[in-house]
Amino acid sequence: MKAAERSLLESPVLAPAPTPFSDTEIARVRSEFPILKERPHGKPLVFLDSAASSQKPIQVIDAMDDYYRRYHANIHRGVYHISELASEAYEEARAKIGRFIGARDAHECIFVRNATEGLNLVAYSWGRHHIQRGDVIVLTEMEHHSNLVPWQILAQEREAELRFVPVTPDGLLDLGGLDDILDSAKLFAFTAVSNTLGTVNPVKHLSARAHAAGAIAVVDGCQAVPRMPVDVADWNCDFMAFSAHKMLGPTGVGMLWGRKELLDAMPPFLSGGGMIKVVNLTSSTYASVPARFEAGTPAIAEAVGFSAAVDYLAALGMERIHQSESRLATIALRRLAEQSNITVYGPPMEQRTGVISLTVGDIHAHDLASILDSEGVCVRAGHHCNQPLMEKLGVPATARASFYVYNTVEEIEVFIAALDKAKRIFKIA
Ligand SMILES: Cc1ncc(COP(=O)(O)O)c(C=O)c1O
Repeated sequence: MKAAERSLLESPVLAPAPTPFSDTEIARVRSEFPILKERPHGKPLVFLDSAASSQKPIQVIDAMDDYYRRYHANIHRGVYHISELASEAYEEARAKIGRFIGARDAHECIFVRNATEGLNLVAYSWGRHHIQRGDVIVLTEMEHHSNLVPWQILAQEREAELRFVPVTPDGLLDLGGLDDILDSAKLFAFTAVSNTLGTVNPVKHLSARAHAAGAIAVVDGCQAVPRMPVDVADWNCDFMAFSAHKMLGPTGVGMLWGRKELLDAMPPFLSGGGMIKVVNLTSSTYASVPARFEAGTPAIAEAVGFSAAVDYLAALGMERIHQSESRLATIALRRLAEQSNITVYGPPMEQRTGVISLTVGDIHAHDLASILDSEGVCVRAGHHCNQPLMEKLGVPATARASFYVYNTVEEIEVFIAALDKAKRIFKIA
């Protein structure tokens, strides 16, 4: 092949741009989510709360059902057939979910109960091993309580200093003074995507700045992994935690990915069965990773369901999921901008994803969400486990709509009509 031909073939111009899902594809996806046939208050279910927890396709429900019906047994310790099947399924799930986020080695992937537990694991194990009096821990003002409280507790215990990257009025991280904030820091923990504002943060850049300052980078991937391609190697972070239940999988399971050399050097977090090498009456030695961090019987059925969820997402394609969600969010933001008395929080579409927080006049978010519910529309209302961010925004609570693979443009119109109903009830023009 001539060089010119080869370079043409390799040209990114030839790579087809990912397209959002067609109406036919969304209809097919919707048919695979049994819950979408429900009719709360006699109305079609319009589920706009996937950022809190997504719905589950039949493939995930079936995979867990099949596990319980055919090969449930405790893992790793049984030498009989069905225990081996269960152990294989569990380890295959680990490897597959690891590949999905770009992990180079399945040993770097620890099953946890959820992202919260993953972040606590880092705070307790890495944190208590490394953070000393006077050390600096850097967070951002947009962190979920799960990526804030564990560091507060650590900082109080160790008399360490907490510093925060501020959030601008339009909901972006203010990175102007980042290097000063990171000066002499040991750890920088930040979210990849804000669960309240939908802001997409520049993770690769933040990790690089953390490393330049000599800090490790801990990423809360809870809202990013479900809705965009994620590659921890490309991000070059040190830890990343996420939950299955926000990405079509079951509750009760999540993953902490960590750099192998860091994990290898960390002491156990929880202790007991499954995480040991040799136990004497007065002391023990510990298993290598990941077993060292998986004390007790794990969530086996949930790992199987998590694996099926990742298959489902991978078949749809993460780039297309991202495109589809962005398309819905773009339409929703445009439609909301056409309405009166609605305030939308967060950055412009180019810097955000399909999570939209809003207030309508002075209607309390809980009243608004109740009225939307009467129309079959599910949104989250409250502080979204982001109390410091809400304070910064100057609102006690917002209603939050979030889109996912099964949402349609028609549902945006139902949402807008339900917001109108709320305005009529509260006599807001
Ligand atoms: C950004 C972010 N981080 C952490 C969490 C905590 O997730 P989980 O409750 O599954 O541990 C959430 C959940 O809403 C989240 O949105």
